Amino acid sequence: AGTSLSECKEYLFKILVIGEIGVGKTSLIKRYVHQCFSENYRATIGVDFSLKVINWDSTTLVRLQLWDIAGQERFGNMTRVYYKEAVGALVVFDLTRACTFQAVSKWKQDLDCKVKLPDGRPIPTVLLANKCDQKTNDGSDLSLMDSFCEEAGFLGWFRTSAKENVNVEEAGHFLVEKILENT
Ligand code: GTP
Ligand code: MG
Repeated sequence: AGTSLSECKEYLFKILVIGEIGVGKTSLIKRYVHQCFSENYRATIGVDFSLKVINWDSTTLVRLQLWDIAGQERFGNMTRVYYKEAVGALVVFDLTRACTFQAVSKWKQDLDCKVKLPDGRPIPTVLLANKCDQKTNDGSDLSLMDSFCEEAGFLGWFRTSAKENVNVEEAGHFLVEKILENT
């Protein structure tokens, strides 16, 4: 009997990608959307946009509008404007720089006080431990990540590498799943 048009669902989701300067936000988006990577660092100024279209299943089309927010914006006063009407977020840190992990809670708090779902809950947020190609798993601190995520209100976390394409697709899929639960 095939699928009638009326059964097809289309969604447009605004997703924020935030975290400290140089952690790899732009690189993760480039990997996720265009399947490419560059070693060259060019700081994002303000915000950049990308669109990722996902054929989620035979009746569901998902469009992700990815808002790539410059790390330096945490010290600005534009985040409230950028966060408006977002329905999901990725908070990124750099496994090779501990200070970028320490800033994760600040980004999460900034997020939670400036944007909420229509029903008042925080927007689904996933933590990305990026540049895992540079550091082998030492186990110890990473075992604390699950409890950190629970306390800080992250739905989950992934070790990612934009460079070697580790867990980028998986993290995106996980976030979209959580967002779809709210529709
Ligand atoms: P801002 O725009 O300043 O906030 O930085 P950003 O978070 O967008 O960082 P960007 O993606 O520009 O990456 C910064 C540097 O890290 C670049 O030189 C990238 O090539 C490098 N980089 C990003 N992701 C990875 C990764 O997974 N592994 C490695 N080894 N390097 C990475
Ligand atoms: Mg950038």
